[in-house]
Amino acid sequence: MKQNHLIARAKQLLDAGELVAIPTETVYGLAADATNLEAVDKIYKVKGRPSNNPVILHFASLEAATPYILDITEEAQKLAAAFWPGPLTLLLPKSAKVSDRITAGLPRVAIRVPNNELTLTLLGQLSYPLAAPSANPSGYISPTTAEHVTRQLGHKVSLVLDGGPCDQGLESTIFGWDEEGRPTVYRKGTITEEAIAQVLHSIPRTHTTKTIEAPGMLSSHYAPHTRTLITEDLVATIEEHKDTNFGVIALDSKMETKGLNHLIVLSIGGHLPEAASNLYSAMHQMDTKGLDLIIIEKAPDIGIGKAINDRILRATGGIKKKAP
Ligand code: TXA
Ligand code: MG
Repeated sequence: MKQNHLIARAKQLLDAGELVAIPTETVYGLAADATNLEAVDKIYKVKGRPSNNPVILHFASLEAATPYILDITEEAQKLAAAFWPGPLTLLLPKSAKVSDRITAGLPRVAIRVPNNELTLTLLGQLSYPLAAPSANPSGYISPTTAEHVTRQLGHKVSLVLDGGPCDQGLESTIFGWDEEGRPTVYRKGTITEEAIAQVLHSIPRTHTTKTIEAPGMLSSHYAPHTRTLITEDLVATIEEHKDTNFGVIALDSKMETKGLNHLIVLSIGGHLPEAASNLYSAMHQMDTKGLDLIIIEKAPDIGIGKAINDRILRATGGIKKKAP
């Protein structure tokens, strides 16, 4: 009953062109009526987001999305059937119904059906899609709880719909076909290349970003305010910084980190999906402690570990390699 009331309130605000923060299975989104450009402008203003950065449209179903895309290939339909509702964003040619303001002038629109009950119910009651980037100030860590949103943007958002902590904890995998028609992952996420390959029967290429090639060169994304580094060799890095006030985010629980003053273990057994779901919360928590340094342990570069490492790299200046 209380939920119905909240959804009705959210609809009322969105219909009136206001912003509402919505829960999804990945991270919380800062949502507006995608067909109301004044409302969409508010998203950019509140986040301090550059206007050349396009936003994802969220729908209740593939059927609801069809008027907004020019055509949908059989392969795209297969991916939607396999993963929606879920953490996969598809880049598809946009129809005239989608403003250039949404896509920053690009020919494709990013669309997804999020897997969260509250948000799906809300979307089902709206006559328009929701434009929603992650609900953080541009450049900061994405929020995975309603409290994160309230702390960062609370006073600037009319309503934060609290759907509890996000299941997945990392932003959606972004997938599309490049100019040459090759299946391409543009942002890694918990839907892995391997999972996509099982549906398409071909392995997607990864759109290489500067993050991987030259992490130090990239303007920071998803980053805490506290200086942060990623390491392959936790023990050596702790030793090296023992005279600073540091915190450690470890992948799993191990003897060597027992007794540290500021320690967060992402998954006691080192399970990657659990680690992914706890990563941003851990970064948020460490960032409020007034530390000099946050040391994050690199995950193994397999499956969801690749997405975890991608996000840690973006939060830091580059990787601390294990001594040969
Ligand atoms: O999991 C998610 O995707 C979350 C939840 C709220 O759905 N949203 C999210 O949005 O992460 P945002 O704006 O923080 O990141 C979306 C990324 C941006 O890097 C943006 O540049 C890219 O998707 N993007 C959006 N529309 C695009 C388009 N038409 N063409 C290429 N890239 C696009
Ligand atoms: Mg974002």
